[in-house]
Formats: sequence, structure tokens, C-alpha cells
Amino acid sequence: MHTCSLLPKCGAAPLSYMPYSKQADYKRGLFREAFKKVGAKVPDFEFIPAPVPYFYRNRMDYTVSFRGEFGLRERGKWWRVLDGHACIVADKTIRRAFKLVNSWVKGTSLPYYDRKKHTGFLKYVVIRSNLDNELLLNIVTTPPEIVGITSRFLTDELVKLIEMFKGNPVNIVLSFTPLKSDRSIGKLYKVVYGQDFLAQTINGFKYKVYANAFFQNNPCVAALLQNKVVETVKGFKNEFENIYDLYGGAGFLGIALARVFRTKVNVVEEFGESTKAGEENARLNGVSKLVRFTTSTVSEYLSNFYQTTGKDVFVLDPPRVGLSNDVLKFLIAKGPKYLVYVSCKYTRFLEEFYKLGLAAKYRIKQVTVFDMFPLTEHVESLFYLVRK
Ligand SMILES: C[S@@+](CC[C@H](N)C(=O)[O-])C[C@H]1O[C@@H](n2cnc3c(N)ncnc32)[C@H](O)[C@@H]1O
Repeated sequence: MHTCSLLPKCGAAPLSYMPYSKQADYKRGLFREAFKKVGAKVPDFEFIPAPVPYFYRNRMDYTVSFRGEFGLRERGKWWRVLDGHACIVADKTIRRAFKLVNSWVKGTSLPYYDRKKHTGFLKYVVIRSNLDNELLLNIVTTPPEIVGITSRFLTDELVKLIEMFKGNPVNIVLSFTPLKSDRSIGKLYKVVYGQDFLAQTINGFKYKVYANAFFQNNPCVAALLQNKVVETVKGFKNEFENIYDLYGGAGFLGIALARVFRTKVNVVEEFGESTKAGEENARLNGVSKLVRFTTSTVSEYLSNFYQTTGKDVFVLDPPRVGLSNDVLKFLIAKGPKYLVYVSCKYTRFLEEFYKLGLAAKYRIKQVTVFDMFPLTEHVESLFYLVRK
């Protein structure tokens, strides 16, 4: 058992004071409670524990403070950084890289960003890894010209970072966010070293992941989730012609579904960097003729482009905010027979289902809970829904 050294200040591993088996029991209990809270009968569900409960995350967003502290934020205190704290959720490749980046942050002459005064430059370093121990560092900053940083000065400082990583398989990019933005996801970026993506292989499928795009953060559990989505769809494979992978990112689920079922998959994703990666991923996995990516919000897609054949299945994997009212209305009025709904916030799913009307038209056929985020209270859930 590992316990986060900075409990209770660190919010990244709040359950790490419990042995892993207790955490799993605790999370099963939270899941049951959530159904009771909305007055619903608790369904039978399968709980899939994490094969790797510590050092599992392949992406960590570390903050640089105005004083040059570097690490995770203190729980509930956005202005405080736990200096030198990588946390036990981060995988070991990231933890090693963290130490190097921390020394670079401490030694650099580039100005640190001040979140109260909105001055300065260095905001975050997002570190991503893959199962081959390769790295992608995304240095998130204010646009350099706004704060008077010349490209010569920037290059000199970045060369120091590249030298620190000598001998490590590393890619480094710079992403810019507006001066007042405190997001760790930037838009415009420059490749500093190597390539602007990291290759991830899961269940034998190959994915390019670009610096600012979403990708599953727990590769071992993501593999189990992907298998379960495929298995679920297999259960009604003679009843559909088209699959819609809504909120599809870079095609993590859609590409696997196309390859297994040799059927057309429409992936809808609002972030252009992800759909661009998705098209490359479809080629990499030999399904570019089957998978079509559309850059759009799901709500716009459903109202402007979607034409039902009457034999569709929707795979839905929205972010934590869940489905918008438009999408919910669409599903209630004319959703397809089968929905495979992947939720990273089941309390929101329960609200949509029991309070916002889905339950009037769908019944829950099967529920699987994946411990995608060990050491935290969060899980990923798969709700297989069939129209009444
Ligand atoms: C939880 S991720 C799932 C991605 C993908 N299914 C996967 O497994 O990698 C949610 C995705 O939805 C995208 N997204 C968020 N809001 C959206 C919207 N309104 N319409 C379309 N895509 C959206 C995000 O950019 C992100 O890629």
C-alpha cells in the first residue's frame, strides 16, 4: 500500500489512506448511495477494480506558481502549489520526468506566471507518458510576445530543458493561452523538440495523441472499458448498420468498433485537434474507409447532419458536465434503440436519466463500473440502455 505523502493537502489521491480493497468497497457503496439519493432502485452492477491501483496516470497537469514552485495544487486552494509534489497517481515515467522539469523550472530565467496579477509567462507543464516510457511535455505559457520574451531568450532556456532530458525519449511542445487564462490546455503551439504527439497503444490499437487533446488517462483500465464497449455492442450486432461514436475524441472507441464489426462508424467530436488525430488513427489501424470524423458539437451534429437509417447505435462518452439539454431532448424524442453510455460522472448520468427524462424512454439493461481513477472517489461507468 502507498499513501500520498501530502494528505490531506493533496487532492489527487484522497483515498490513499485506505488499502486498495477498502477503496473499492467504499466506491461500490458510493455508487449504490447515488441511486438511493435519486429515489431509484440500485441495479445489479459489475465493479471492475484497477489492475494497477498506484502510479497509473499517463497524464499529469503540473502547475508553476508565481514563486517558481512546481507540482500539484493544494486541495481547494487554486493559488497554492505543493512544491515538488508529483503524487502517487502519476506513473513512474512521469514521476522521473517531473524531477527533471522541476529542476528546470527552478533554474530558468523565464518569468513565472502570477495568477493574481496576470503577469509572467510559465503556467503549467503537462507531462504525458506511454507504456513504452516515452514522454510528451506540453509547456503552457502566455504568448511570448505579450510579455516581451524574445525567441532567442526562449530558445536558450528551452535548450537547457532539452539537455536535461538527454537520453530520454522525449517530445516537447509549447502551447499558448491568453494572458488571463489559467487553463492547462492551450491552443497554438510550437514543437520544441521531437514530435507534437505521443503514440499510445491500447489493446493493439495505435493512437496518436496530440498535446492538447483528450486521451484516456488510465491505459490499463481504458483497455478493459474498450473491451466492454465492444462486448456490449456484440450483444445486438445483428440489429444495427451504423455506429455513432458521440464525444468520440481521437477515435479511441470508434476505431476499435469499426475494426471489430467492419461497420461504418461516425465519430463526432468538437475539438479539431482530436478529429485530425482521429483521421490519422483510423489510417494507422486500417479503418479509414469505415470511420468518418466530424468536427462539431454533438448537439449541432444531431440537429444539422444526422439522418437516421433506423438501424443506428449511439455510443456516448461525454465529459463530466454530461449531455446538453438539446442532446437530451433529441434522445428522448427520437434516440435509437440502443445507447451505450460511458459516464465519468455517474451522478450526472443519474440526473439525466431519472430527473431529465431519459428513464421515460429507456431502461437500463446493464451497468459496469470501472475503477478508472483509483485513490480518488471517481469511477467510469458504462450504462447499456435499451429503448422501451
Ligand atoms: C470523456 S472524453 C471521451 C473521448 C473518447 N470517447 C475517448 O474515449 O477517448 C469527451 C470528449 O468529448 C469532447 N467534447 C466535449 N464537449 C463536446 C460537445 N459538446 N460536442 C462534441 N464533443 C465534445 C471532448 O473534447 C472530449 O474529447
